[in-house]
Amino acid sequence: MLARKVVLDCDPGHDDAIAIMLACASPEIELLAVTTVAGNVTLEHTTRNALRVLDLIGRADIPVAAGRDRPLLRDLSTAAVMHGESGLAGPLEVEPSRGPADLTALELIEQVLVSEVEPVTLVATGPLTNIADVITQLPEIHGRIREIVIMGGAVELGNWTPAAEFNIWVDPDAAKIVFESGIPLTMIGLEVTHKAWLTDEHAEQLRGSGRPGEFVAELLDHFVKFHQDRFGWPGAPIHDAVTIAHLIDPTLVTTLAMNVQIDTISSLCMGRTVADRWSVTGLPANVHVGLDIDRDRFVTLLLGRLSQLA
Ligand code: BDR
Ligand code: CA
Repeated sequence: MLARKVVLDCDPGHDDAIAIMLACASPEIELLAVTTVAGNVTLEHTTRNALRVLDLIGRADIPVAAGRDRPLLRDLSTAAVMHGESGLAGPLEVEPSRGPADLTALELIEQVLVSEVEPVTLVATGPLTNIADVITQLPEIHGRIREIVIMGGAVELGNWTPAAEFNIWVDPDAAKIVFESGIPLTMIGLEVTHKAWLTDEHAEQLRGSGRPGEFVAELLDHFVKFHQDRFGWPGAPIHDAVTIAHLIDPTLVTTLAMNVQIDTISSLCMGRTVADRWSVTGLPANVHVGLDIDRDRFVTLLLGRLSQLA
């Protein structure tokens, strides 16, 4: 089996951290680089958190580069209320063993795309600011991108506003560029990720499985409680990990090709992924949209892989 070559652009973030860990625990994925963006918290924190997570699982060999510290055209709004000021509320704060690479996220992605023989998959689990840079600033190497898989958007309800999901809402202008890029794109939105939740019991299962499992359990202690208190849900959606799970096992998430456009104009629906589920516009499909997930198999895969990390 040839491992799929992946660059993960993220804003850790509890679920981003778990996505990094799942990728590193999975032989189906070769994680070539991690790039960071401002989103859940500031760029300084998201970068530090990516470095911390890679340290924890003994993968300080994976390069990390910091990208954009704010959306393309707007001020940054964070989700610190959900993830804590540091972005990873729960576990004890530990300083990373290294700093980020001495190049930007865009430069690192360019380096990877140019140097790999196989086309590379870009996975984005934060606002799409860095990925929009790839689209606008590296047009001559788009062919090196196998596909882009994002966590973001929703066909139906939003989570940050009634109409919009957080990652798209933070930088709708970047999302518009990515969705109109013509590069194969899969959107794992809230229809899918709101089914992909873990509970306190899962935290307990992981707590005994070594330091990485304990770390995830400590993340879940905070993240599950937040979702129980805020939404009354039994657990916390591990949104971002679904992108990686989808690459590991494409039968987990059911997708449908459709036209999706990003609202960057209105106020009430700013950042909405306007998904033409029933083809009423006649516009061509530009996105494979996730509509459902086999939750039990997702949970089994995620827990199995995480508990193998030593
Ligand atoms: C997305 O927003 C962030 O808070 C999470 O990390 C995830 O990427 C879910 O809407
Ligand atoms: Ca995220």
